[in-house]
Amino acid sequence: MPDQAQKLVGQYGVIGNPISHSRSPLIHQAFAKQTGIALEYTAILAPLDGFEASVAAFWQNGGRGLNVTVPFKAQAFALCHNLSERAARAGAVNTLIFPADSLQPILGDNTDGAGLLQDFAFHGISIHGKKILLIGAGGATRGVLAPLLAEQPAQLLIANRREKTAQALIADFVDLAPNTAFAACALDAIPKEAFDLIINATSAGLSDTQLPLPDAVIHTDTVAYDMAYGSQPTVFMRWSQARGAKAFDGLGMLVEQAAVSFYLWHGVRPETRPVRDLLRALP
Ligand code: ATR
Repeated sequence: MPDQAQKLVGQYGVIGNPISHSRSPLIHQAFAKQTGIALEYTAILAPLDGFEASVAAFWQNGGRGLNVTVPFKAQAFALCHNLSERAARAGAVNTLIFPADSLQPILGDNTDGAGLLQDFAFHGISIHGKKILLIGAGGATRGVLAPLLAEQPAQLLIANRREKTAQALIADFVDLAPNTAFAACALDAIPKEAFDLIINATSAGLSDTQLPLPDAVIHTDTVAYDMAYGSQPTVFMRWSQARGAKAFDGLGMLVEQAAVSFYLWHGVRPETRPVRDLLRALP
């Protein structure tokens, strides 16, 4: 709870289904403590068919901002009256900003791409001129494609279980890839050649499912990055490490995207390193 002497700036939260595993409340409360901002930030479980009603109730009860997670990012995009350029491009929203005046529009933004690039910078992962395999074509991929392409990789191949979804992304984003070999394929048709960076943006790991990747895509210089995270290395990380690659999970991305959301809501940039350390120290 906020210090009584501090003025409560408002109610914030993260909404998703499932949501109990979310680290976002801990992260935002840590940022709030660090910056001396008093706020409430809670995890909200929305019924799968009740996202819009849950958001409306939150706003009516004085809520000022929500982070949106699986599986609602596309629905959040659809309900926004006003979108940042990056959210419009992604077709997915992970940050909602509610005006105090209910006649004003809700603003939607997407901080996932900025969070990913910040985390890449933290780990020293470079993209320019690299050969990248991006697995998955859902909301997570949509959120990060524009910033990834802006770094001008030599090649960006999107592989997805349903090839059509990946092909649709090529059509949507190809104008941002003038200097990149930008293509899509089915998950079971990935060429048997090595990549510098493999990013897992699927939700397969949530059910402990191993992706059917050919061994040839990975070698000891490959960097493997899973946007998912857990208390233990993910299935994809374990698969990569077993083949000698360096592997990272998405916990850093989570903290970095949260920091961008925090800035959007409060106008203050929190320090992310102590919060990364805090999360890593958790059992
Ligand atoms: P998110 O917002 O996390 O991206 P999403 O939009 O539901 O969630 O997308 C999930 C992604 O994970 C999709 O690319 C999905 O592949 P399909 O488009 O073919 O459904 C992928 N995915 C989920 N489970 C998977 C599995 N077991 N094997 C391979 N891909 C999987």
